[in-house]
Amino acid sequence: MSRYWSEITHQLTPYIPGEQPKLANLVKLNTNESPYPPSPRVAEVLREHADNQLQRYPDPNSIALRTTIAQHHGLALENVFVGNGSDEVLAHVFLALLKHDLPILFPDISYSFYPVYCGLYGIKHSLIPLTDDFQIQVDDYMRPNGGIIFPNPNAPTGCPVKLADIERLLIANPDSVVVIDEAYVDYGAESAVCLIAQYPQLLVVHTLSKSRGLAGLRVGYALGNSELIDGLTRVKDSFNSYPLGKLAQLGAAAAIQDTAYFASTCAQVINSREQLIADLNKLGFNVLPSAANFVFAAHPQHDGATLTAKLRERSIIVRHFSNPPRIAPFMRITVGTDEQCAIFINALTDILNHTTE
Ligand SMILES: Cc1ncc(COP(=O)(O)O)c(C=O)c1O
Repeated sequence: MSRYWSEITHQLTPYIPGEQPKLANLVKLNTNESPYPPSPRVAEVLREHADNQLQRYPDPNSIALRTTIAQHHGLALENVFVGNGSDEVLAHVFLALLKHDLPILFPDISYSFYPVYCGLYGIKHSLIPLTDDFQIQVDDYMRPNGGIIFPNPNAPTGCPVKLADIERLLIANPDSVVVIDEAYVDYGAESAVCLIAQYPQLLVVHTLSKSRGLAGLRVGYALGNSELIDGLTRVKDSFNSYPLGKLAQLGAAAAIQDTAYFASTCAQVINSREQLIADLNKLGFNVLPSAANFVFAAHPQHDGATLTAKLRERSIIVRHFSNPPRIAPFMRITVGTDEQCAIFINALTDILNHTTE
């Protein structure tokens, strides 16, 4: 608290990112990064351009990167907006497209940055409860609203929504923007990008932080009708004209172009996830069906917070959420390499064998 702060600054409840500790031999399964480095082409491009006119500003419109993204998705340049991580893209989405008189709708258990943006920009929102088995049911969103946003697959549950259900929602909801946050879509959910041409109110958000292994570069993008993209660009140009540096633009394009590397690393993570789920089931955990690079797992006899703390004593970090209380029994475990998953499962087995609750 400070007397120099503005009124709004006093009222904010900032997002708390997953920790990035600098411990040796850490098994880091807490922030849903890829366990694999980005395509080797990224490092090559960054080396080639490290001293390339960095005294000059980058292209404020990121034309080359947006063209690469558009081609990758079979869209046009005018359908692509880029930002400094999808968090920045989402921030602009909330201000440009979701701030209206009616409350926006999002799940009660979802990406915890959404309510933070609502607080920052003064956006009314209503939380729509997940079903008893932690699913998003699109019929629950068919009511008057200022906009709708949810991740597909959802976070932190990992559960996907079917494309047919998203289309049903779009048909029922033509007058406000529907944002599908596809941060984890490449690990097995159905993308809604194919619906963009038909539904001008649909905006799909992607990130390079997960399936492209580029969390450290900070690049995300939104895809949608040019009217939506123009709205985002107006906000961006009222905030920061140059959100992406030259190296970020080049590195991101190189990652998107290496489709073979992308396919093989996604397949590897999906394989490891299935093994991890099988191993957790053997230990008695209930694991929600995951189409993401993480799993949400609870044990009927062991508390999620206690298990998380005991894993941490062994330098293994996973994410635990105490709120809402309904998800307190769970741990969210990022899928690591097979070796990291094996270390995790061995430690967990040992903890369960030595803990009585
Ligand atoms: C659902 C969801 N959306 C968006 C993001 C933001 O990703 P980034 O800002 O790294 O692109 C995350 C990050 O964890 C996420 O879980």
